[in-house]
Amino acid sequence: MNRLIKSALILLLLAILIEFLILKSPEDPRRQDISPQEKIKSVKGNILDDEGKLIYSGFLTKPGIQWDFDALKSKWNKRYRFKEWEFYAIHHENVTISFGIANFHYVASVFFTVYEKGSIPQYHQKLILPNEELTLAKHPLNGKTIYESGNYKVDFKNRDNKFKHLELKFDDKLELSLDVFKKTDDSMASLTPFNSDGSNFYYTYKDYNNYISGKVTAFGKVYDFSDRIGMIDWGRGVWPYHSFWIWGSGQGKIGPNSAIGLNIGEFMFSPISKATEDCVFLDRTMYKLGNFITSYPKDLSQPWEFKTTNQHPTDEYGSASIIFYPEIKSIFASNFWLIQSHFDQAFGVFEGNITTRDGEISFKARGLVEVHHTRW
Ligand SMILES: *[C@@H]1O[C@H](CO)[C@@H](O)[C@H](O)[C@H]1NC(C)=O
Ligand SMILES: *[C@@H]1O[C@H](CO)[C@@H](O)[C@H](O)[C@H]1NC(C)=O
Repeated sequence: MNRLIKSALILLLLAILIEFLILKSPEDPRRQDISPQEKIKSVKGNILDDEGKLIYSGFLTKPGIQWDFDALKSKWNKRYRFKEWEFYAIHHENVTISFGIANFHYVASVFFTVYEKGSIPQYHQKLILPNEELTLAKHPLNGKTIYESGNYKVDFKNRDNKFKHLELKFDDKLELSLDVFKKTDDSMASLTPFNSDGSNFYYTYKDYNNYISGKVTAFGKVYDFSDRIGMIDWGRGVWPYHSFWIWGSGQGKIGPNSAIGLNIGEFMFSPISKATEDCVFLDRTMYKLGNFITSYPKDLSQPWEFKTTNQHPTDEYGSASIIFYPEIKSIFASNFWLIQSHFDQAFGVFEGNITTRDGEISFKARGLVEVHHTRW
């Protein structure tokens, strides 16, 4: 046999063996248990121990966590497993604008989406290579996130734990300058270990019902925002190679002056995770919700159903029954063998009922849902 063909066959066989013996997907990544929704009373010092393992499991309603990733001693984890992002979304009547920056350390990116009801979502991404200078804030409410290269500029600044000023320039496609004012008393910060020793984990911080004002110019069209609402999703973690999540995020009005922000999150099963990040923000108050069971259809443009495992509220967490009606779905799939991502996202409207210790509300909120399976 020709030498070349022989080597190619050996390589192929090796790849198949690696695929099935080493890289094979976990059977069912979805969480099957009911979370106790444990609230962490207080956090002292770094959330990581000296070996870079997460020492807490649960959620917190106040920010102020110390997070020092110098504790991540493993070079492998720092370079290949460590993921950071900062993401903002504004759902404004018929328009959704979201943008952010993500750093996976072997590669990073700045990205945005503009979705106008009745048209195709416009998604753009610019890769940032590891040799480029990039600063990400070490805390969701203070510090700076900075990147600049040619016609691209990210300048996110925090002031006083209450104000942010966000500037983003993305080639000739998008330019924005926004002030963000944190209105809520409480936030959702969740600390989730993904494995039993906490060496894989996720720390996420979310705030909804922020006041937004400023201007966005996207594809030549100007959006003037004053007193709009927006959300931030800020995360840091050491993720497993096979990762999975479901996320639902909605924002709307209940009554003339009241805002609602809905956050639904499911990560892959973890043996020691003690809380989900499921919650609702009603004006200034964040209410924890019990964990959602998400049923999504094969055809993602059909309605999705979200129900908490508890049918009634407790003093600690509320209950909910919500349907999401998609308007449009997008599928982003990339496959570079070792690094793969399958990302389904849909924009639309949440509609349902939430009951907390303070009463029941019916609501409608615009937003998005997504299911992400990845090898990274
Ligand atoms: C949103 O869309 C509806 C129809 O779908 C239209 O009546 C309304 O004026 C739009 N609002 C804005 C602010 O464009
Ligand atoms: C919300 O409550 C109303 C009134 O009881 C009911 O008709 C509706 O089906 C409920 N929605 C969901 C998604 O459970």
